[in-house]
Amino acid sequence: MSDKVRLGIVGVGGVAQSHFNTLGANPEVEFAAVCDVREDAARETAAKYGGQVFTSARAMFDTVELDAAWLCLPPFAHGEAEFAAIEHKVPFFIEKPINRDLVQASEIARGVAEANLLTSVGYMNRYRAGINQLRDALQSDPAVLVLGGWIGGEPRGEAPIVKWWVQKTLSGGQFVEQVTHTADLVRYLCGEPAEVCAFAVTGRVSGVPNYTNDDAVAATIKFKAGAVANLHSCCASNAKGGVTLSVYAVNVAGELGGWEHSMAIFRPGQEPVNVPGEGNIFEIEQQAFIAAVKSGDRSLIRCDFADGLETLRLTLAVNESIDKGRVVEL
Ligand SMILES: NC(=O)c1ccc[n+]([C@@H]2O[C@H](COP(=O)([O-])OP(=O)(O)OC[C@H]3O[C@@H](n4cnc5c(N)ncnc54)[C@H](O)[C@@H]3O)[C@@H](O)[C@H]2O)c1
Repeated sequence: MSDKVRLGIVGVGGVAQSHFNTLGANPEVEFAAVCDVREDAARETAAKYGGQVFTSARAMFDTVELDAAWLCLPPFAHGEAEFAAIEHKVPFFIEKPINRDLVQASEIARGVAEANLLTSVGYMNRYRAGINQLRDALQSDPAVLVLGGWIGGEPRGEAPIVKWWVQKTLSGGQFVEQVTHTADLVRYLCGEPAEVCAFAVTGRVSGVPNYTNDDAVAATIKFKAGAVANLHSCCASNAKGGVTLSVYAVNVAGELGGWEHSMAIFRPGQEPVNVPGEGNIFEIEQQAFIAAVKSGDRSLIRCDFADGLETLRLTLAVNESIDKGRVVEL
């Protein structure tokens, strides 16, 4: 590998542009190739940050020698890029959720394991100091109860993401696409789930073209280590929304607030400890992946593909429970 990590970018939409603000300015990184099915968008990104332009991920991996890839694809667009990366043994960062299809995601996970490929999934909140302080405290005083989720207004607007986000067959629905952040943190804090039971509301959001998402989901999850969780999604509340996560153990509780995920940690008879959320969390997550690619040190990565697969399994079990009207065992 040269001094700079030669990156192949796949997908240059909304979240990718947020990554590029810092990734594109990172002196350890070179944009060697940029791919998007929207050729104009790929050209625009390449003009700004460099790189050969492609409209097919397969062609990009077959043509350009890469040290790593950066995949920012919608849940329905996975497969081609990952299988090409595996074939060419190119480590990759992949945005959450890793897929919307458990069968394809499991096949990719097998390929990643067989190729012994370094991977990182974009669950950036795992890198937050507040989350990790709470996780440390829960090692000796395990969680009993967890409450959390995402509430937002009706999904309207012209941004490209809205077109696929509102279609459950493309996005997986709000729980799979968005509350995946919360589900992943709960796994990070409480371990693996055992059983899921979920209910959904439909039919309240109206006038959004092609909308097939659930308007709200309430899911109850029992964890193997004993904790229970109530997690929710809602995209039908125009009056008030928010991202929340509260974790209660016998002698410690953690309350996370807002998009920046500031954490308050409570203990009986003590002042709460407040840990502000990191404003540059994407940069922190990027640095971990780039450093891992350069050094080969996988301990720097907080969520690899196999781990991300388990979060997908949990969120898809919520959908399955809604569809089948029964408890789903994991
Ligand atoms: N970590 C976070 O906080 C965070 C925030 C926003 C989005 N995301 C995730 O990032 C992913 C992408 O979201 P987004 O907001 O950037 O969506 P987007 O619709 O804005 O961008 C997706 C891009 O992928 C391109 N694309 C689609 N199919 C392709 C293919 N087969 N090959 C190459 N390019 C293809 C589209 O043309 C588009 O430019 C989603 O999974 C989303 O959940 C994560």
